[in-house]
Amino acid sequence: MSSSTQSAGKLAVVIMAAGKGTRLKSNRPKVLHEIGGLPLLAHVIKAAATQVAPPAIFAVIGHQADRVRKAVEATGIGFVEQTEQRGTGHAIQCAAPSIKDFEHIIVLSGDAPLIQPATLERLFAFHIAQSAAMTILTARPENPFGYGRIVHPAADSPEVSAIVEQKALTPEQESIGEINSGIYVFRTAPLLAHLGKLDANNANREVILTDMAAHLRAAGDRVVSVEVPEASEILGANTIAELVSLDATLRAATTSKLMAEGVTILKPETCLIDASVEVAPDTIIEPFVQLLGQTRVGSECRIRSYSTLENAIVGDRVTIRQSSVLTDCTIGEEAIIGPFSHIRPASNIGPRAHVGNFVETKKTTLGEGAKANHLAYLGDATVGAKTKVGAG
Ligand code: UD1
Ligand code: CA
Repeated sequence: MSSSTQSAGKLAVVIMAAGKGTRLKSNRPKVLHEIGGLPLLAHVIKAAATQVAPPAIFAVIGHQADRVRKAVEATGIGFVEQTEQRGTGHAIQCAAPSIKDFEHIIVLSGDAPLIQPATLERLFAFHIAQSAAMTILTARPENPFGYGRIVHPAADSPEVSAIVEQKALTPEQESIGEINSGIYVFRTAPLLAHLGKLDANNANREVILTDMAAHLRAAGDRVVSVEVPEASEILGANTIAELVSLDATLRAATTSKLMAEGVTILKPETCLIDASVEVAPDTIIEPFVQLLGQTRVGSECRIRSYSTLENAIVGDRVTIRQSSVLTDCTIGEEAIIGPFSHIRPASNIGPRAHVGNFVETKKTTLGEGAKANHLAYLGDATVGAKTKVGAG
């Protein structure tokens, strides 16, 4: 974002995250469902934080508000409570007192986690260039069913006369391929001037933000749209199947990035690797491996199939043999772990040490070159260098 558009106090971001997510059939609030190892809302906050500082980001929370707030309050964002979820327009009505001193606001959905910073920059730049009151980010997904559709007063015009929700579509409008992403920029003054006009007198029986397009245009304010070329970027997660598909998209991006950096991942589609994980070049990851959380793996390692590493710090040239589970631990260079080893929290396995089959360690330091190769439990222990621990 250019410095002229980002100057302090001018731009805020509102993230709508109060909904229950009925279609997920889950007790967990929708925005706390995870993809790529992070809650949906955390992804959206990350994207928002590339545009404005966290105190200018406001999440509208409602359903299980305390739980949602706790999950993301460390980010330093602000919160707005929407105690009754009467629709997306009502969510913004609740946020009005928080945003009134900002000149523009970007509105994001807490359930659309793949939005990219560059897209938000393009959207905002277009909004400014068009001197618009409302700028809608749109897309053309393969199947537009279920989304709000964009109605233009004239072909080839960026101007928008209305957003029509699925339930309100006329038969002719059903063929419209351009959809509302649920991501917008508003000039705050016209938004607040007409926000009170929203009501539940529509096919959705909710106070919907999409009705703002027609209200603003009727008031003579400019409403425009700009299309995102990659429809996948704005896809929402309304069902478990959609969540799983977003998770796969994100993880495919992570494995592609690691491979571009020199890591070999065999059958990457079978591996679960969080975006937060770091792996050095020349390491080979076999099929069905999970690398989670803050795991860091050195170079020239081999992680064999069915092993799960969570918050594990692994040195260079380490071999993790099949079916080992490593959690919150450190593995020194050239160590050999597994098969079937269980390295539990606060274990510190020294360089060139061996931990073999059915050995469990917890809060244990194994010195350089020490070996515990079969059937043992090592808890709260310090084992000296080159020591050999037998079975049992
Ligand atoms: C919305 C848009 C639709 C668009 C689609 C894109 C409306 C009415 N429709 O539909 O045009 O194509 O997004 O994905 O806006 N929320 C609140 N408070 C509420 C209701 C919802 O905070 O009272 C939050 C939800 O938690 C969610 C977001 O707003 O994060 C969007 O709501 P959702 O019900 O998912 O809208 P869609 O049906 O997807
Ligand atoms: Ca949605």
